[in-house]
Formats: sequence, C-alpha cells, structure tokens
Amino acid sequence: MSRIFFWGQFLERMSLESLAKNQVDRLNEVGRLVSNFNNVFDLAQLLEKILASARALTKCEAGTIYLARAGRLVFAQSQNDYLDRIVNDPSDLPFFNRDIEINRSTLAGYVALERRPLTINDTSSIHPEAPYQHFTGFDSESSYVCQAIMTLPLSTSGSDPLGVLQLINPLGDDGLLTCFSDEDERILTFFGDFAAQAIEKSLTMGSAITHNVEIISSQDPLETRAHATRVATIATAIYDHWSKKHGVKEETRLRALNLLPLAAMLHDVGKIYVPKRVLTKPGRLDPKERILMENHVIAGAKMYGDAFTPLDEIIRSIILDHHERWDGQGYPGRAAGSDEMPKLIQGKKGEEISLFGRIVAVADVYDALSNYRTYKKAFDQTLALQIIEQESGRHFDPQVVESFMAIKPQLNRIKAQYPDPPLEEMTQKIEKDRARDAEEQKEETGEN
Ligand SMILES: [Fe+2]
Ligand SMILES: [Fe+2]
Repeated sequence: MSRIFFWGQFLERMSLESLAKNQVDRLNEVGRLVSNFNNVFDLAQLLEKILASARALTKCEAGTIYLARAGRLVFAQSQNDYLDRIVNDPSDLPFFNRDIEINRSTLAGYVALERRPLTINDTSSIHPEAPYQHFTGFDSESSYVCQAIMTLPLSTSGSDPLGVLQLINPLGDDGLLTCFSDEDERILTFFGDFAAQAIEKSLTMGSAITHNVEIISSQDPLETRAHATRVATIATAIYDHWSKKHGVKEETRLRALNLLPLAAMLHDVGKIYVPKRVLTKPGRLDPKERILMENHVIAGAKMYGDAFTPLDEIIRSIILDHHERWDGQGYPGRAAGSDEMPKLIQGKKGEEISLFGRIVAVADVYDALSNYRTYKKAFDQTLALQIIEQESGRHFDPQVVESFMAIKPQLNRIKAQYPDPPLEEMTQKIEKDRARDAEEQKEETGEN
C-alpha cells in the first residue's frame, strides 16, 4: 500500500514538474519571440510577426489581428494556412479590407469592450443567451469553419484596447483540430501585453510620420496620405523582390523592409517649402517655378541634415535622390549649377544614386502616372507600365524596373487598398486653395 502511495506521489510530482517545465519552456519561448518585436517599426511587418508568433505558441491554423479605429475593429492582419493553400490572391478573402462595429454581439467586439480574454472551444455550442455569438458570415463566405477561437484584448496599461488578437483552430501534433487549454490562455495573455506595447510604439511612430504627410498634403492636395502610402508600399514590394534576387543577407533585408515603408512616406516632405501656387498650378511650370519646385529635394534633405538614426539616414537619401535619373539628367543633379540654384549638391547618376532613391523614383512616377494630377488625367495601368518600361535605362535603373515589373500583380490591390479621396473632393480643394491664394496675393499687392 505504502509502495503504491509512494509511486502515486512520485508520479504526481513528476507530472507537476513536467508541467512546470513545459510552462517555463513556453514562457522562455514567449520571451524569445517578443524580443524580436523591439526593433520593428513598420506596423504591417510587426503585426505579421506578432500573429505568426502567437500562432506558433498555440499551433493555430489561423488567426487575425484587428485594430480599433473610430469605433470599429479593422482586420489589420489575417493568416490562414488552410485558405493560403486554396486562395491565390489575399484580396479574394472575405475579410480583406473589412471591419466590424465594436459591440458586445461579436466575440472580438465583446473582448474589446470587456478587456479580458475569451476562449471558445466549440463555436457551434455557444449558449443562445450569451451576449456574444460567433459571426458565421466570414466562415460561409470563405468555406472555412472557425471552430475553436481564443480572443484576447491588445491593450497597454489603462488604455482602451488598441485592438484584438484572435487565434483560430489549434492543431495537435497529429494535425487534427484540438482545444485551447487554460494554460494557452494564460501564456497568450502574457504574450499579448508585450505585443500591445510593441503595437503602441509602432502606431506612435506611424502617426508622427502620418502627421508630417498631412502637413505636406495641406500644401499639395495631390500628395495625399494615400499617395504616400501607395508609394511606400510599392517601393517596399520592389525592394523585397530586388533584395531576394540579389541575395541580400536576410538580416539586412528585414532591417530595410522595416525602415523603408516609413521612410518612403516622406519622400516629398520638402514640398512644404514650395509655394502653393506652384504646387497646384494647372499646366506647365515656367523655368522659375520649376526651380522652386525642384528645390523641394534640397529643402527636404536639409530637414534631415543631422540624421540621428538609421531611419533618418534613409529618409534623407530618399528625399535627395528620388528625382535623380539613372542617366544623370535628373535633379538636383541637373538643377545644381544653374543660374537660379547654386551648385550645392553634386548631381548623381547610375549607382551613385542610392538604391532606395532609385526604387522610390519608380514607385513615385508610376503612382503619379496612374492617378489624377493637376496637369493630367489618370493613365490606365497598361499605359503607365509601358512608360516605366520605356524609361528603363534612361530615367530608371533597369534592375529596379525589372523588380517593379515582377510585382505587377500587386499593383491593383495596392491601389484599391489605399484609394485617394474622390476626384471631385480633391479638385474642389485645389480650386478653393487657388482662390484663397489669389485673394491673398491681391491683398499683398494692395489691389481690390
Ligand atoms: Fe518629389
Ligand atoms: Fe510623390
């Protein structure tokens, strides 16, 4: 009897120890994963990392991160191994670019408002009287059943949730659907706190950049936040392709992919120094106006003259180089040395131009061609692509153009994802600005 008791105690102790060891291992894994979030500034890259890490910790087949925006939860990142195998284009997924209202009727809304985790291991058996229900609309649109869902708030201390992390369908070692454990919820709650802090840091940095873009936009109505975001997204996709093709070290690649999306947003920050009448002038600029316009690269680069951080360095090189041409005929190279502009900066050509400058040049021109400008209508995609291709080796680096052509399938999705305000709204704003400028000029010259 005593022997049996001894073994019973021993086994019990062993199982507790192994459980503790397992927990320690998982917590160490959390520590290792969250330490990778520290230097990720780009929100898209960060969310991708957070969701992939959370899924790895729980061996989940799918997951979603929603971010809270204006009373709604926006699908900011979705991963689904099953759907990835059957869907070619992520924009075909039912939740692409979608959002839901924050209220207690959905699992995500409930968790956002209650600010505590909720684990449902069988969505089909949620009590009908429960305040929340699993919204099956997305399941039936995608033919993917979310059976087990763990939903966690993403919030930093005391703040409203920044969003919600949802983990879907954990798989056992046999690849079959299993259940979430209480321990899963505890570990993921711990993980969620670190994830929320990283998201908050990235959002803070992103909003500082967005505010700068808004300032540029108040000066030049066509340099919209959508334009800046599209240019940054296209440039990042080009670099992603280029860097893989050129065998860039993974560490360098990831670092660049982290900084480039933010840096490229500010390519035209120097336009705040260009008079509005020049920026919004319909038709061609005269030579003096052209110089004023071209000066935006030098004025912008001066803002980052004392580049303190690697991000500042990249921003500066993009600002300065995004109008240089591969054949050396761009500016400030071309403008430097002219009568109106002293030779402050040596012009560049070919690989003297920074890689990010060469990449943003293609992204910026393509976006200007395929969208409305004060001096032209939006060109259709075929024509815009043709122009870029014709300029390969003249205006643009041929290898960058090659990578740009390789990301062609993504271009329409990027355009749909970041649309400009309606054309009417933009033209009305331009007209208003022009009328106000004319009034101000009259006042300055004493006319009535
Ligand atoms: Fe520019
Ligand atoms: Fe631009």
